[in-house]
Amino acid sequence: MARFYITTPIYYTNGEPHLGHAYTTILADAIARAHRLLGDDVFFLTGTDEHGQKIERSAQKAGVETRAYVDRLSGQFRALFDALNISNDDFIRTSEPRHYRAAEAIWRLVRDRGDLYKGSYEGWYCTVDEIFVPETQLVDGRHCPVCRNVVEWLSEESYFFRLSKYEQPLLDHYRTHPDFVSPEIRRNEVVSFIEQGLKDLSVSRTSFRWGIPVPDDPAHVIYVWFDALTNYITAVGFGDPGAQGETRFRALWPADAHLIGKEIVRQHAVYWPAFLMSAGLPLPKRIVTHGFWLMKGAKMSKSVGNVVQPHGYMDTFGVDALRYFVLREMTVGNDASFNDRAFVGRYNADLANDLGNLVSRVVTMIHRYANGRVPSPGTDISGDVATENAVFQDQVRRAIETTCEAARRFDSATTLSSAWQAVSSTNRFLVAREPWRLAKQPQHRALLETTLYHAADAVRVIASLVEPAMPDTATRIRRMLGVDAESWVDLRPGTLAAGQTLGPVEPLFPRVEIDVTEQDQDQSTDAAQPAVSGAQSSAPAVRTDEPRITIDDFMKVDLRVAKVLDAERVPKSKKLLRLRVDVGEQERMLVAGIAEAYEPDTLVGRHVVIVFNLQPATLMGLESNGMVLAATQADGKPELLTFASPPQPGTRIK
Ligand code: ME8
Repeated sequence: MARFYITTPIYYTNGEPHLGHAYTTILADAIARAHRLLGDDVFFLTGTDEHGQKIERSAQKAGVETRAYVDRLSGQFRALFDALNISNDDFIRTSEPRHYRAAEAIWRLVRDRGDLYKGSYEGWYCTVDEIFVPETQLVDGRHCPVCRNVVEWLSEESYFFRLSKYEQPLLDHYRTHPDFVSPEIRRNEVVSFIEQGLKDLSVSRTSFRWGIPVPDDPAHVIYVWFDALTNYITAVGFGDPGAQGETRFRALWPADAHLIGKEIVRQHAVYWPAFLMSAGLPLPKRIVTHGFWLMKGAKMSKSVGNVVQPHGYMDTFGVDALRYFVLREMTVGNDASFNDRAFVGRYNADLANDLGNLVSRVVTMIHRYANGRVPSPGTDISGDVATENAVFQDQVRRAIETTCEAARRFDSATTLSSAWQAVSSTNRFLVAREPWRLAKQPQHRALLETTLYHAADAVRVIASLVEPAMPDTATRIRRMLGVDAESWVDLRPGTLAAGQTLGPVEPLFPRVEIDVTEQDQDQSTDAAQPAVSGAQSSAPAVRTDEPRITIDDFMKVDLRVAKVLDAERVPKSKKLLRLRVDVGEQERMLVAGIAEAYEPDTLVGRHVVIVFNLQPATLMGLESNGMVLAATQADGKPELLTFASPPQPGTRIK
């Protein structure tokens, strides 16, 4: 079994987690889950970065002791990741003793290699990003090029790491490992940064205490990035005194992938490999960078104040809907805008309509037409039907292949669009076969059964394909189908067992209606303005569908066929017509708001549908005894319900 070790960045505990943090962790989780399904032995690490001047200052500002402060915030990250159904195997905190041991151990290795020397640092420092900024890179002479916050002048004694010594070894590594950093644009950026020449890096601080003391020189604390990057080896046993740590480290390191946001590529793709080279340790295999979630054109971040809180979306739409949206909407490597219109659009179109309806339709039909048991695919199927079945199975097979390939490339959007190929193929297969019609024709029983079998079998495959993104949805679909989880290794169409008893239908994604807020005007580039009123958007103003009604509720509404006997305009009203209708045993007078779409004369003799048992209402002084049913067209005009071959007036509709 191949092992697969994947990490997220460890998150700063200087503020509450937001959607940007949730995103990296969800993406890593979907990749980890996909690799488990592909048969790998996965180790998935996330955690919190708890040292440094920024965190010390945030705690002071909050009036809390620093350790209590980081405990609280680290707990919030952990709670969010639990709520997001993240399947990490370990959660590391840099304030843990195991991490102190590892950071001290790597420091000693680097020092013993002769790569650390004492000097004095004079220059600009950004406490938000915890980076040293060369004067030439300052924006307007005072601002950090990454976060645009004001930088501070530092002048203190410091240990320096001989980064310059690793210029050529790093370039050699980039040449021999073209996939080390992806996407290519980031790789090129890093290579050109190294080619411009690397200066030695200040790796300790003396002006504050909240960090790991430098071994044998406790007046210094280890620079927070040197400390934080080490977490990736701490968690797999580096620095553990026992033999067990050594064995684990050898089994799991180097990591297969560090997944990071693009703003921290230099630390991961230049400093970290240089530290590892110096310590004589292998380099991670890949560094995969993703882009930013933007709000109003700016990176969503606490310092800009334009963050989205994931909890509101999870509460309103469900965890899987949030996971689906971020994985489907952002192409890994590019930026994407977060807005409610896109969110609700995807939710209703992809989840409620495409997937949700497909699953409930298939399960409902099997309950209704096949006594709730998966019918047999049919052994004596031949000719066109057999060919169509085979074509359909091929489409599902292709969807499996492309989904697996995309997942191996960490391409979450294509993973999902490929899974959706199977959803669309199944929907098309059903529309072409029309099992609801076959069910009314006993001579087509075999065709009905083979159709339902193949549709249910495809739904089984779909549950598997969506599992990395939507684990809970996969479980719910399987519960409806009465099947167990299965790996991607031998996932193929046609393996659903016939005769299987189905569970009850569970609605997966009820449709939602949205009131659009100003958050949707996301095209503006005015980064200084909060994106949503109050900036801390938690969820759009949405209303989930009303609960379903029972058949008894429905039967309370008496719908009848009515024939229009005569029609006239209601005086002084543009919209209303007065209709006299024949409802079988009696005539009724109704008032209907259809005058803008229908001339009275054209209605005479037409059959319409009315609510027969509605309480009378008075409109423009006229009593209306019932209501005529119509749909509203896109242009706002009413369209009456009619019949291709009208039944007798008075016939009940149900
Ligand atoms: O950088 N869009 O921690 P951090 C997308 N502690 N992703 C975003 C995002 C956004 N708007 N905002 C944050 C640190 N992220 C260091 C890392 S690793 C050894 C140390 C994600 O709390 C993104 O992945 O600032 C980014 O890299 C990570 O959160 C950084 O979180």
